[in-house]
Amino acid sequence: MDGATPVTTAPAVLILLGPPGAGKGTQARMLEEKFGLVQLSTGDLLRAAVAAGTPAGKQAKAVMEAGQLVSDQIVIDILRDRLAEPDCCRGVILDGFPRTTVQAQALDDLLSETGQKINAAISLAVDDAAMVTRIAGRYTCAGCGEGYHDQFKQPAQEGTCDKCGGTEMSRRADDNAETVASRLEAYHAQTAPLIAYYDATGVLQAIDAMGAIDTIAADMAAIVKRTIS
Ligand code: AP5
Repeated sequence: MDGATPVTTAPAVLILLGPPGAGKGTQARMLEEKFGLVQLSTGDLLRAAVAAGTPAGKQAKAVMEAGQLVSDQIVIDILRDRLAEPDCCRGVILDGFPRTTVQAQALDDLLSETGQKINAAISLAVDDAAMVTRIAGRYTCAGCGEGYHDQFKQPAQEGTCDKCGGTEMSRRADDNAETVASRLEAYHAQTAPLIAYYDATGVLQAIDAMGAIDTIAADMAAIVKRTIS
């Protein structure tokens, strides 16, 4: 802080915007580690609800398998509940939320209730062909959720997670060619308009996400340092 007094003590709110496979989850986990923030992925929260068989999970399952967006009300309710948990006072990285204008407006309302503001909405730009390659090669440690890629991010020892030493890896049910096409379509039609939404409020930060993971991480960290202090 260079000796200056912080002007706000409200927990930071960062939004990661980007198409499927852009690297939101990969970068959110790195920022979480580096800055002590909490990653909130609505995709992960919904997958947990599906696995637990909750009423919301039962409604979301078929929609997610089709690569479409789950209803705004379900996602907003899940996010509101998660934001109320005590660890979120460390500040949050919203990974995959908001995804529609209705969700963005609901987030504005939620934050105004708690006196928080959006520090930055970071948009990760990737071309569609790269997204398909990234999604096709993605797998995850079943133990801790660390993400890997057949080509771009392999664990140091094949089949063993660098983070937790787990050896069970899983691939997502919606990471297949047909579903990816629908997810991209949903992104362009319903989520891409949020780039203009956040540009208009002055919090948009655009990142070229076609480079190497570590290069993008350095660009992201610079933005976070600048906007949360
Ligand atoms: P969600 O889980 O959010 O999926 P997504 O948006 O499709 O995003 P992904 O998780 O596929 O990609 P990512 O950007 O996190 O990329 P990653 O870092 O893994 O949502 C799933 C579904 O849930 C949605 O389709 C919808 O149905 C529902 N849903 C969720 N939120 C919702 C909401 N708010 N409203 C309504 N419905 C909602 O990287 C991908 C791969 O690439 C990895 O293998 C990684 O290692 C690799 N990689 C990452 N960066 C690079 C790089 N720079 N170079 C090379 N490889 C890289």
